[in-house]
Amino acid sequence: MDRRKLLSWFGLGWLASLLPSSLLGCSDSNPSNTSSSSPASDSPAKSAPESVAAAPSFKSIGTVAQLDKDGSLVSSDKKIAVVRDPKDKTKLLAVNTACTHKGCTVLWKSDKKQYVCPCHDAEFAANGSVIAGPAKTPLPTYAAKIEKDQVVVSA
Ligand code: FES
Repeated sequence: MDRRKLLSWFGLGWLASLLPSSLLGCSDSNPSNTSSSSPASDSPAKSAPESVAAAPSFKSIGTVAQLDKDGSLVSSDKKIAVVRDPKDKTKLLAVNTACTHKGCTVLWKSDKKQYVCPCHDAEFAANGSVIAGPAKTPLPTYAAKIEKDQVVVSA
């Protein structure tokens, strides 16, 4: 092999070794590329104000002692009722008391562990699900928890 041919082979090899790194430099996978607008990089800035706005506010509707004495708590406007979950007494379940059939106020029946509508006898479970019609839609629910000695509900 003559000298000229040998040098041209080395030149091609050197160019070929530079090709992969120059291609990577043009790709978007470069982490230092700040012009990228992936959803993950945008989400912290956008989600912070939304999460603050979406945070539920809780209000007290009575004491834990009253809940345990009566078996249920009803808000002063009679629109929210809270009971302990019959399947797990450490959890609270809160529902909107307006019957989803025609809007009468449902009442908690401790002996049956369910809400009963006085107008047309619809029955709802503690979690608001329909047990018996004529209502077909569950009662709306709220988050409920105990804070100190108070039962608080998101509303
Ligand atoms: Fe409740 Fe009709 S209003 S069952």
